[in-house]
Amino acid sequence: MRKVIQPVKGTRDFYPEEMGIRTWIYQTIRNVSESFGYQEWEAPLLETLDLYAAKSGEELVQEQSFVFLDRGGDKIALRPELTPSLARLVAQRQAQLSVPVRWWSFGPFWRYERPQKGRTREFFQWNIDMLGVNTPEADAELIAVAATFFQKVGLTPDKVTILINDRRLMDSELSAIGILAEKKNDVFNLIDRRNKLQYAEWQTYALSLGLSETQVSGLNEILDNSELWRKSTELSRVFNALSAMGLSDYVQYDAKIIRGLLYYTGTVFEAFSPTGDIRRAICGGGRYDNLLADVGGDPMPGVGFAMGDVVITLLLQSLDLIPTGLGKVPAKILVTVFDQESFPASLEIAKELRQNGLDVICYPEATKLGKQFKFGDRISARIVIVSGPDEMKIGSVTIKDLEAGTQQVILRSEAAKYIKDLLIGS
Ligand code: HAM
Repeated sequence: MRKVIQPVKGTRDFYPEEMGIRTWIYQTIRNVSESFGYQEWEAPLLETLDLYAAKSGEELVQEQSFVFLDRGGDKIALRPELTPSLARLVAQRQAQLSVPVRWWSFGPFWRYERPQKGRTREFFQWNIDMLGVNTPEADAELIAVAATFFQKVGLTPDKVTILINDRRLMDSELSAIGILAEKKNDVFNLIDRRNKLQYAEWQTYALSLGLSETQVSGLNEILDNSELWRKSTELSRVFNALSAMGLSDYVQYDAKIIRGLLYYTGTVFEAFSPTGDIRRAICGGGRYDNLLADVGGDPMPGVGFAMGDVVITLLLQSLDLIPTGLGKVPAKILVTVFDQESFPASLEIAKELRQNGLDVICYPEATKLGKQFKFGDRISARIVIVSGPDEMKIGSVTIKDLEAGTQQVILRSEAAKYIKDLLIGS
């Protein structure tokens, strides 16, 4: 019995087709990020666990981080998120960087979560952040970046909604129902679970935190109030800015959006799809004005979000929005090998064509031509080149255009131009 060694639980293998999808998403992310003037950057994949202990929150640090002791005895984490690294990098060069800093990144992250639809232990995230300004219009810009990405991949407003709230507004609403400052983080956590738990379970959790029945019903009233944003000048400005950018259809106020991470201080947002059965957030982010100081820098405000590759890929697949042909063999030109003697000539022809900017596969074996043509078929080659003794004698090659069903004997020195004309003409 054959027994292939299994991959690590919660990781994904990227065969060329899946890699094609990932690369397409990365490319779209790059285009959108650059269209708003953001620069690409990257941080190490390993960080000290202390970096996250500063402000990411209990769950991420205690339960979800992949941690190991290095040989010197230091606790090292495989990064579960990027924002603390971003704060660290900016803090290190705070005096030199010109603000606002607009940076984006795409790379791997690890969280020890229960693998399920939309959740893996190894995933990729697009992070995009602006630091150095604290205006609702900056918050709106980040939300607009997310909406623009959705537009680019064909997710129209009926297929995705960005839900927005503000922690400052929620803070004052919680005070109004008598929730004390020291309880606020617990209650934010409770709100974050409002849609993740059954109502009865959620209510029991609320009471276990020490909330009175009156406070629980007061909290429910707050969470169901879709007009609450009108009390917040910041949120009004966020919605105005989004309207000016023509993106009102993508956004909606929702008091239940609070975010699980501890460092958020203002606007918070998450995107969901009302279609299909993927209930997980597509992306999430918000304003964090204390994180720089928390990692040892001078105070500096920031806002940003991250989108994982898992949920967005599932969603785009379920809506049939992934372009066809991703991850296919890139070369459309196959140079065949007539016999062992002419092998060097085939290799030379392939090299000449590549030097002319064409993507070319040279068959790696002097086997039957029929088998080589079949291979060409399988990789959907457009052009197949044969260089046998007859062609070699007159310094030529036979160029078959499989799409047009034609063939032509051409001087080797003119082959590249001839093929380029064929490809352009089609
Ligand atoms: P987050 O909400 O923890 O935020 O993660 C953002 C996104 O990453 C999620 O919406 C989801 O798409 C993806 N994600 C997270 N965990 C997993 C997982 N186990 N499997 C698959 N996808 C996952 C943050 O990470 C913040 N640092 C975002 C941020 C940037 N805030 C400000 N700037």
